[in-house]
Amino acid sequence: RIAYVNGDFLPLEEARVSVLDRGFLFADGIYEVSAVLEGKLVDNESHLIRLERSVGEIQLAMPETRERIEEIQKELIARNSLVEGVVYLQVTRGAADRDFAFPKGVKPSLVMFTQEKNIVASPAAQKGIAVKTLPDIRWARRDIKSVALLAQVLAKQAAVEAGCQEAWMIEDGEITEGGSSTVFIVTKDDVVVTRPNSNAILPGCTRKALLALAEERQIRIEERAFSVDEALAAKEAFITSASSFLQPVVTIDGKQVADGKPGPLATRLREIYIDFAR
Ligand code: PDD
Repeated sequence: RIAYVNGDFLPLEEARVSVLDRGFLFADGIYEVSAVLEGKLVDNESHLIRLERSVGEIQLAMPETRERIEEIQKELIARNSLVEGVVYLQVTRGAADRDFAFPKGVKPSLVMFTQEKNIVASPAAQKGIAVKTLPDIRWARRDIKSVALLAQVLAKQAAVEAGCQEAWMIEDGEITEGGSSTVFIVTKDDVVVTRPNSNAILPGCTRKALLALAEERQIRIEERAFSVDEALAAKEAFITSASSFLQPVVTIDGKQVADGKPGPLATRLREIYIDFAR
């Protein structure tokens, strides 16, 4: 595999950043994950716009223009002959002696690599996934796609230990989002409900595209927060993310959602999103 590090394409095992990199020392950095389907980036502009916003929110300049970043992503896909999977990219404040405040005259680092993944032919998407709920212990700026992911690492590990595939994080009695996904339910009268964007969640690119696709098809949408009880009483539940598109949720803390099978609207929306991604 070939990775990209600050201007160079290198074999992954030779790709290195400094131990003084602030991404490593302080999680002082931003990341993005874009899907690749049939060798092509999916909805990448959305990811680059969000990257630009995230880096701005931590007072960092874009390391390269959006156009140049996309060129590098495409070159990496080509060099890795990646057909289906993800491109990961990370921007950090760079390497400098350890001091909390921003170092002067330091260049941000830009790192990218690819990972193969079957997103379309995914058993999880066919069967649906199990989720575990946990308290949301993260900071107050979850709209920034920061590399500080320890809360999600712990939540998703607890989910895996409980035999689940995703963690749902709860705050003030309501679900904020998944460990690495946006959460949706479908009400008894076929309204797709998802939490509105705010500092409490990451504004999902998949969420945005899916809501637009649903609206074009006159599917009813409501943006509001909801509780675990409401999700358990819902007709359907599902999650979205760049690396999974849409996955139906069939159990929450071991309790079935409806009949415990992927719902019709989730299945239809997944097909609609796959067509869009192609
Ligand atoms: N995660 N919420 C959180 C906390 C996320 O980490 C992600 C994405 C999403 C969905 O956003 P999008 O649709 O733009 O991927 C929501 C990526 C895939 C990851 O960390 O691997």
